[in-house]
Amino acid sequence: MIKIAPSILSCDFSKIGEEVARMDACGADYIHIDVMDGHFVPNITFGAPVIKCFRKNTDKVFDCHLMISDPLKYAEDFAKAGADIINFHVESDSPIDETIEKILSLGCKAGLTVKPATAIEEVYPYLDKLSMVLIMTVEPGFGGQKFMADMMQKVSALRAEAEKRGLDLDIQVDGGISLETAPVAIEAGANVLVAGSAVFGAEDPSAMIEALRG
Ligand code: DX5
Ligand code: ZN
Repeated sequence: MIKIAPSILSCDFSKIGEEVARMDACGADYIHIDVMDGHFVPNITFGAPVIKCFRKNTDKVFDCHLMISDPLKYAEDFAKAGADIINFHVESDSPIDETIEKILSLGCKAGLTVKPATAIEEVYPYLDKLSMVLIMTVEPGFGGQKFMADMMQKVSALRAEAEKRGLDLDIQVDGGISLETAPVAIEAGANVLVAGSAVFGAEDPSAMIEALRG
């Protein structure tokens, strides 16, 4: 089953609680939450206190994508705010093993994320402990960018590796997902699609979520 994770980066931040409830009602599987610190990426969004506020508006899985330099330092804050999955970047400054252990000890699922320039093999040593790998299909930092089709080699290599090891791994793609690019990502082996502008820009977000599933 293909899961759709609307990215609230594209929502109206003045009514973020209503927006996540709307995505829940529209059939989203996960709510994708982009946290940016203005250091790891050249943009700032929001942190744990804000997530805690809109946690009240839905029971959906909160899929937190931490684009921050020190995820180990803040993992507990995000877990307490209501994160279900905590994705952090393999390129961050935190020790990877320790950060995964911390996330798991907090009762959350752990995910590792790779930027476009990072080889997928970087996540292989940690796969057994991960629920998800997030393969960026744009440079992290902003919504509305163009899908990088050459990232699909990483998706298929990772799917093959997960199958070889018998792992039930969520492979998520993030950036530029649309009705044209979703089938390409699914064909390569992705099973979770983040969609910001495609869903929030749609006249009928429910229909768009269904259509993106293919
Ligand atoms: C980019 C974020 C994405 C972004 C995707 O740094 O990680 O989640 O919101 O937006 P679209 O779907 O518009 O490319
Ligand atoms: Zn994201």
